[in-house]
Amino acid sequence: MDDLQTRKDDTLKAITAADNADAVEALRVEALGKQGWVSQLLKTLGKMTPEERTEKAPIIQQSRAEIADAITARKQALDDAEQDRRLATETLDLSLPAPATPRGTVHPVSQVMDELAEIFADLGFAVKTGPEVEDDWHNFTALNMPESHPARAMHDTFYFPDHDEDGRRMLLRTHTSPVQIRTMVNEGAPVRIIAPGRVYRSDSDATHTPMFHQVEGLVIDKDIHLGHLKWTLETFLKAFFERDDIVLRLRPSYFPFTEPSVEVDVGFEVVKGRRVLGGSGDAPGHAWMELLGSGMVNARVIEFAGLDPEEWQGFAFGVGVDRLAMLKYGMDDLRAFFDGDIRWLQHYGFSPFDQPTLSAGVGVSA
Ligand code: PHE
Repeated sequence: MDDLQTRKDDTLKAITAADNADAVEALRVEALGKQGWVSQLLKTLGKMTPEERTEKAPIIQQSRAEIADAITARKQALDDAEQDRRLATETLDLSLPAPATPRGTVHPVSQVMDELAEIFADLGFAVKTGPEVEDDWHNFTALNMPESHPARAMHDTFYFPDHDEDGRRMLLRTHTSPVQIRTMVNEGAPVRIIAPGRVYRSDSDATHTPMFHQVEGLVIDKDIHLGHLKWTLETFLKAFFERDDIVLRLRPSYFPFTEPSVEVDVGFEVVKGRRVLGGSGDAPGHAWMELLGSGMVNARVIEFAGLDPEEWQGFAFGVGVDRLAMLKYGMDDLRAFFDGDIRWLQHYGFSPFDQPTLSAGVGVSA
């Protein structure tokens, strides 16, 4: 027991002298660890006579408690000292300026889509979306492009190897027109929607990227005629370009899903090397530029979508969103839209606080 007393005193001294947490931990293991000397002593209690145990157990347990307390106290003291040291040496300058303003911006394509939604909402149009991974029935067949139709080949379609559970071939939609079908099938008539979104074609040069954006427009109701189409497009383009002198020229054209089909040109002039919309394309210094495709929805399409073409008719149009953005905000290379270059975005992007509204103007300055 004298031995125990001496060993305990040595341990307590060593603990008080330990100058870092690792040293304290080593002392703890040496005394109180599974193989530690105090633990070993405690194990001998089992083999003692009851009298001997009554005498020695309290002494051993007392030593264990003292050592454990000393270890806790020393660890705490070392922690406190470390804390004091850090408080004395580290500084936090609360007077530093706020972090730089965020570098990200709203992409012009998103901005233009918001502008379109704002303009068309004011005309009573809802915004619809459809899947980018489509099947060939919605993308082609129901739009009056059967299997062998030459227009299918013109779309440079990205096909998937798989078919869906109805045996339809899967593809990346080549236009937003399948949303026409989905909306009529799901919601019936009347319809007044725009459908903005991504579309895909295997095509790539300065003015074509394999992914680009379109916005589809569809109106289905009773007694809808070409005059409604022209008024709607004129109203939309005047609001979008914020000019009253936008002049449209409607040219006969061909799309399988519209009959008649109308290609819409818009008058422009070149100012400081940049195309600026406005004025008749026939006016001096002006020309016409092809802007979008449209027409009266083909009766076959209305039938495919499950509606009665005797009762319902309407118009549809499709326009490139990236194209609209370039014309409005003056970019000349479409590919830069999708490079993700922060410098381009800082130049052409928009502040998230610049929400387009009709009252404040849909065309906040870039
Ligand atoms: N979907 C056609 C295209 O991508 C555009 C279009 C839409 C034409 C609606 C007429 C009516 O070229």
